[in-house]
Amino acid sequence: MPQYVPMTAPRAALIDGKAIAREVRSLVRAAVDRRVAAGGRPPGLAVVMVGDNAASQVYVRHKRSACAECGMYSIAVDLPRSTSEVELLARIDELNEDDRIDGILVQLPLPEHIRQTAVVERIDPAKDVDGFHPYNIGRLAERNPLIRPCTPYGVIRLLDHIGVSVKGKHCVVVGASNIVGRPMSLELLLMGATTTVTHRFTQDLAHHVREAEILVAAAGKPGLIKGEWIRPGAVVVDVGINRMPDGSLCGDVEFEAAAARAGWITPVPGGVGPMTVAMLMQNTLEAALRRG
Ligand code: GUN
Repeated sequence: MPQYVPMTAPRAALIDGKAIAREVRSLVRAAVDRRVAAGGRPPGLAVVMVGDNAASQVYVRHKRSACAECGMYSIAVDLPRSTSEVELLARIDELNEDDRIDGILVQLPLPEHIRQTAVVERIDPAKDVDGFHPYNIGRLAERNPLIRPCTPYGVIRLLDHIGVSVKGKHCVVVGASNIVGRPMSLELLLMGATTTVTHRFTQDLAHHVREAEILVAAAGKPGLIKGEWIRPGAVVVDVGINRMPDGSLCGDVEFEAAAARAGWITPVPGGVGPMTVAMLMQNTLEAALRRG
C-alpha cells in the first residue's frame, strides 16, 4: 500500500494583535484602578475630531470606547469641517489648561484649510499622547524617548511579545510618513536594528523587501508588497488598513502568498490596528502618572 503523506505548505504563525492589545488594555485598566483606589483621579483623554472623514470616525470610536474600558475619563470634541484653524487652536489651548485632561489627540488628517503642523505644535508636549509633537519626535530621535508614537510603539510591543529581538537584524520599513514610517525607523534604530526606509521615490522596492528579516509595511497601498518578495522566515508586520470597494479591509502585503513564506505575520484587520489604540491608552496612563 503506498503511503500518502499529506503535503502541508509551511505557513507563518499569526501575530494576534487583537489579543495582545486586550492584554495591554487590561494592564492599563489595573493601573488606573490602583491609582483611583489610592485617591487619585482617573487619567483623562480628549479626542478631537474635525469634520466627518469616515475612516477617522471609526478610529475615533475605537479610541473613545477603549477609554471607557480602561476606566479613563474622556471627552469627545467633535467640530464641524468649517472650523477655522484659529478656533481649533483656541480649543487646544483650553484643553492644555484643563487639569482633568492628561492627553490630547487630534485625529488626522485635518481638513485642508487647517495646517497640521500648527495644530500638532500647539499641543502641550506633556499631553501629546500621539507623540507627534517635534519635542517628542526629537526625544525619540536622540534615544531618550518620552511619549512615543502609538503605532510604531505598538509594533515594538508586538515584536517583543513574540520574542523577536530586532538587535542587529535588517529591518525594512516601507513608507516614510510622519505618523508611522519615520517614527518606526527611529524605534527600530533605538532597538539596535540596521534599518532601511523605503518610500515613493525608492527604486526597486522588491530588492529591499527581499533583504528584510523584519518587514514593516506602512505605505497605505493595498497589495503593494508581493508575497514572492518575502524573505523565507521573515517577520511581516502589515500596518496598512485599506478599505476595498466591497467594504472589506486589506493590508499593504499580499497576505496569503506572504504567509506561505514568512515566519510570522500580522493579519489585517486584527494585527497592528488594535495595538495603536492600546498604546494610546498606555501613553495616556503614563502622561497622567507623570503629571501627578
Ligand atoms: N490618523 C491615522 N492614524 C492616526 C493616529 O495614530 N493618530 C492621529 N491623531 N491621527 C491618525
